[in-house]
Amino acid sequence: MRKKFVAGNWKMFTDHATAKKLAQEVVELMAGNHQVNVALCPPFTYLQTVGEVLKGTHIALGAQNCYHEKEGAFTGEISPAMLIDIGCKYVILGHSERRHKMGECDIAVNKKVHAALNAGLHVILCIGESLDERQANKTNEILKNQLDGSLAGVNATCFKSLVLAYEPVWAIGTGHNATPQQAQDAHAFIRSWIAKHHGAEVAAQMVIQYGGSVKPDNAASLLTQPDVDGGLIGGASLKADQFLGIIRAGM
Ligand code: 13P
Repeated sequence: MRKKFVAGNWKMFTDHATAKKLAQEVVELMAGNHQVNVALCPPFTYLQTVGEVLKGTHIALGAQNCYHEKEGAFTGEISPAMLIDIGCKYVILGHSERRHKMGECDIAVNKKVHAALNAGLHVILCIGESLDERQANKTNEILKNQLDGSLAGVNATCFKSLVLAYEPVWAIGTGHNATPQQAQDAHAFIRSWIAKHHGAEVAAQMVIQYGGSVKPDNAASLLTQPDVDGGLIGGASLKADQFLGIIRAGM
């Protein structure tokens, strides 16, 4: 039985004071709730502060990106070891905003995945098709290509430190979430890819989150699909009560 996992991707939002307050509110509202795994992924600059708020709770800290090198002359980059040093358990990699706005290709994502896993981080790897690709009936082909590319050379033993997030690009920040059936179909396809390459047991244990316009009022219908194991939440994770509404839908 896979435990649901809901993570908040705060993207480039909050300031120091609101990040601290938001984390405190989530901690208060989550008190005593261990039924769902939860992580908060604030901007780099607030990882320390949010990490201090989360200390002693079962809510994990995550970052939104990292670089693939251990250290060196890479101005502006952050290494996996630095994220561990500041208390991160998770790092989000391959988010569509990084793929499409920062030009990250599968080769770059794959290097980051290896570096993060080797350093001991858990990776939330995002994949998903654009609207054009869905309309051209290419969803499964795109998912397959992204899985092949982003996970090249990652062996089955590393999969226990891996979470996949299916985030259709057309659903992110648009208010147009995938229907529960669309999400279920994509998740089942992703799980079948894992089974094919790494065996049925690994596939059965893999947590696959859905992301894209998840709100408290649509969360239950998405999170109760058999292959949907939680959510990667953008906008609604910036309001503690909405985020908690989504977490409760996963119970
Ligand atoms: P929204 O929940 O704002 O659509 O964002 C989803 C997302 O990109 C999470 O990583």
